[in-house]
Amino acid sequence: MTQQGQKLMTMLGVAVANLTKPDVVLPALKQLGARHAGYGVREAHYVTVGAALLWTLERGLGDSFTNELRQAWTAVYTLVADAMKTAAKEQQETQTSLANQASGLERNTA
Ligand code: HEM
Repeated sequence: MTQQGQKLMTMLGVAVANLTKPDVVLPALKQLGARHAGYGVREAHYVTVGAALLWTLERGLGDSFTNELRQAWTAVYTLVADAMKTAAKEQQETQTSLANQASGLERNTA
């Protein structure tokens, strides 16, 4: 598995281990989502990566990848991806608002 895939799986493992502690997981996921926006990751990419993750699990686990497991992984991935996407959106809104304020300031001082 590539280094990139390992990072994703490690992070998903951390999320699973702390699912009962949203106060721990959510801030970390928000920061991760904001960093991903900086990497140029867009919403549609999360769909691709989610599909690749399920495909990999299916290939790796074969018959052991039951429907129940598929549903559980889909639920966790959706939760994690949604938290990351929301944070990315919030970051973008803040940046847009700051940029608008800055250009307003420039206009006022011009
Ligand atoms: C649930 C979804 C994802 C998780 C848990 C995840 C996790 C991670 C982690 C832990 C890192 C290490 C760097 C850091 O902490 O900022 C990373 C880096 C990165 N991820 Fe993701 N990721 C996810 C989705 C995606 C998607 C959808 C893309 C785009 C196709 C993506 C592209 C990248 C890129 C470009 C880097 C930086 C690579 C580098 O410069 O080393 N990730 N990701």
